[in-house]
Parts: sequence; C-alpha cells; structure tokens
Amino acid sequence: MKRRKFLKNSSLTAAGLVSASAMAACKTENKVDEALATPALDPIKPIVVCTWNFFNASEKAWEVLKSGASALDAVEQGVMIEEADEKNETVGKGGRPDRDGNVTLDACIMDKDGNCGSVVYLQNIVHPVSVARKVMEETPHIILAGKGAEKFAYEQGFKKEDLFTESTRKQYQEWLKTSKYETTINIENHDTIGMLAIDENGDIAGACTTSGMAYKVGGRVGDSPIIGAGLYVDNEVGGATATGVGEEVIRTVGSFLIVELMRQGKSPQEACEEGVKRIMKKNEGRKDFQIGFLAINKNGETGGYCVHPGFTYREYSTNGHENREVKSFYQ
Ligand code: GLY
Repeated sequence: MKRRKFLKNSSLTAAGLVSASAMAACKTENKVDEALATPALDPIKPIVVCTWNFFNASEKAWEVLKSGASALDAVEQGVMIEEADEKNETVGKGGRPDRDGNVTLDACIMDKDGNCGSVVYLQNIVHPVSVARKVMEETPHIILAGKGAEKFAYEQGFKKEDLFTESTRKQYQEWLKTSKYETTINIENHDTIGMLAIDENGDIAGACTTSGMAYKVGGRVGDSPIIGAGLYVDNEVGGATATGVGEEVIRTVGSFLIVELMRQGKSPQEACEEGVKRIMKKNEGRKDFQIGFLAINKNGETGGYCVHPGFTYREYSTNGHENREVKSFYQ
C-alpha cells in the first residue's frame, strides 16, 4: 500500500479538507484524483500570523478579524501598522534608503480568489500595501513599478510624503563615509513583514511589505512584492511568506514552493523546512545570509523555519497569542 500524499483540489471544500492524521490513514492504489473525504477537526479560525515579533501589527489584524471583516482587510490593516511606524527601519516610512539615498518600497497582497496586486520601487508613499491593493482592485494589472506606481497612487488619492526620518537620514550620511554594503544576519537590515490570515469564513489572504535591503543598489527589487516568492496564497491549501535575503527566495520561488508542498500533504512546518533546505542546496556551505519562511494551512496549523537561529513569528488566534521561535538549518 502506498501512503497517499496528494490533495486533489476539489476535495478541499469546507467539508472536505483533510487533517494530516486523516491523510496518513488514507490509503489508495494509484488513484491520483481520488478525493480525501475526512473533514478536519476544528479548523482554527480566525487566525493571523506574521513574520517576526510585530505585536502591534498582528494585534491590529486580530481586531479586524474579530470584527468579522475579511482576511484581506486584516492583512492590509495589520501590515499598515508597520508601514507607518517610523521606528521600523525595514518597512514603510523610516525604511532605510538605497545607496543613492532613495527610499524605495516593495509590497504585495493576495486574496482568497487568487487575485493579487503588487508595487515595486515605490517612492514617497507611506502605504505601499494599500497601493498594491488598489492595483489589484482597480486595474487589470498585477505589478506597477517606480514612477508609474507613484503616479497611480496619487491618482488614487494617496499623499506624497518624505519617507526619510531624522534617524535614517543621519544613518545614511554615516554610511556614505564608507559606502560598505553587507547583509547582517538578523540585524534590522531586511526584516520584512509578511502576514497571513484566515477569517471567520475560513478564507485566507496574505500581504508582504518592505523597504528591502538597506543601501541596496538603486533599482533593486527583492522577493517581497513578487507573487510566489515573498508571498503566495491558495485558498484551497494555505499560504506562505518569507523574510530575509530576497534574492535567495526568488531563486526557489519560495512561497509558491511551500504552498505546493502543503498541497502534496506536508504540514506547514515540514513545508517550510523543505523550502529552506532547497535554498541551502543551492548555497552549500554559505552562512552569510538569513531566510525565514512562515506558513499556514487551511486548518489554521502554522509552521516556520529559517537558516540561522533568531527568526520568530507571531501568532494570534482564539488559542491566544505568542511569539514563536522557529528551528533553524544552522544551530
Ligand atoms: N525580503 C526582503 C528583501 O529582500 O527585499
């Protein structure tokens, strides 16, 4: 008998979602499309998770979910808290600039129907995630970049604002003295916020927003606004998001990979571990970068894994809220 690990999409209705234990018990003979019919026991919903210990952002998303609003509203309003927080130097206003002194923001959002919107290299706008949502809802496109994205934002009523703070301006002046670029593991260099939520209806949405690597080459875009890399949601299966050095996440289309691994039967934890291992296979022996993956499945089970110790994710649900440390590839 062969253990069956393939979830047929059509089996994943509200009544048809299977738990990992039910899958393990289910045995079929070469019937790839046979539906697995054991319903999940008590899916956890609503629930929100986000990369790192972003308490205020997850609390905001939780409030939105508790009010009965959609997962899409929850993730947008949740990550907006970090975009507006001037003390967070990796997201939104107060994000560190590129080496030319431009603060450029990347963000994306994805809903339960697979609709998505994204902005890259966006300047002078505090809330790129909301512009990304407008791209999704008001245009036939998915990604808008640079000046075009900025012009679109103004047309949609967003206000122009200087994204520098006194602190980031000073730091940039200091950095110019040596102009040395290096990624520092777990230091606030590229600690993107990625957020995934399931609402009362059991629908999943996600958002991801960042100012990218501090002092990056002008024009550089990371994984965060790339659907499938920094974020992916499939309402039949689950969602995944990433933080860390975006180039490595893009090379494996990390978030899409993790969702597909969950579709094939892996738990969120197992899928995140496999995602990091794929990256490490392409970077044998390399230790100079951090990646953290976070995933949730349709049952509200969550998991995370990273390259180096230190990555955490915050989870908010009816079971309470906590900041979870995750296991890492290197100890
Ligand atoms: N993960 C954020 C970035 O690489 O830009």
